[in-house]
Amino acid sequence: MSGFSIDWLDLREDADRRARDSSLREQALQWLTGEGRSASAPLVVDLGAGTGSTLRALGGSGQQRLNWRLVDHDQTLLEEARRRHGATHVVEACVADLSPVEALPLAGARLVTASALFDLVSSGFVESLATVLKDQCRQSPVGLYAALNYDGATLWTPPHPLDEPVLQAFNRDQRTDKGFGPALGPQAGPVMEAQFRRAGFEVYTAVSPWVLGATDQGMVSALIDGIASAVAGSSGLDSGALRDWVRFRHDHAATGTCTVGHTDLLVLPGRG
Ligand SMILES: C[S@@+](CC[C@H](N)C(=O)[O-])C[C@H]1O[C@@H](n2cnc3c(N)ncnc32)[C@H](O)[C@@H]1O
Repeated sequence: MSGFSIDWLDLREDADRRARDSSLREQALQWLTGEGRSASAPLVVDLGAGTGSTLRALGGSGQQRLNWRLVDHDQTLLEEARRRHGATHVVEACVADLSPVEALPLAGARLVTASALFDLVSSGFVESLATVLKDQCRQSPVGLYAALNYDGATLWTPPHPLDEPVLQAFNRDQRTDKGFGPALGPQAGPVMEAQFRRAGFEVYTAVSPWVLGATDQGMVSALIDGIASAVAGSSGLDSGALRDWVRFRHDHAATGTCTVGHTDLLVLPGRG
């Protein structure tokens, strides 16, 4: 089971905002206003919504009226989303487990969105979601905008000899079950692209790396601790060497850099 704190989601949000590919974001917004949409404000269903970062990324500017259905199993995060946006946006909060895909509250959606979610899910989840969205397209066209899927690449400066073994151990941990069966981890982007294409959708992809430097020291420190806790006890990683790596990384958190690879995907109904 995953647990994401408001503090961690807040810490990463600025880096997420900078990382998102702006062309795909614009294309997603165009899809919401384009051909085939109903006369009323389009409905966006955000899966794994947390405190509403996708709403802020897509709808925060208020350029167009969007109705939001935020879905998450964490009631505290959804209450925070409602506290932040309930007065300015049409927001429906649904506390639900996402894993039974057929039960997802997608009815009426013009766009399904997710940020930093699909590396947690399994290949079976993606396959089922592609089928469900394909079926839904028979009633009314629906797209999917899935941003910030971790791609397995992390590059630190200055370098340290343990960077590569730590990354390999971290990427192995990323594949473990996060509540949906074996997680896709770094394979999320390629698997989504293949499965949605197979289901007949058009898929657009772009890279969206976190590029972290001096202004991100708080986030980098939390990232170092998160990585260390994920890899602690991994076979082949000596605990003393890992402590040295953590110390070295914290010592350079304010002056070094860290680049973490992600991909964004926009999935739209095929023309056929
Ligand atoms: C990495 S956080 C991303 C949150 C938000 N989209 C953002 O970008 O700030 C993943 C989110 O998925 C939610 N989540 C994880 N597993 C879930 C599940 N099985 N059912 C519902 N929500 C889940 C978590 O509670 C968390 O809010």
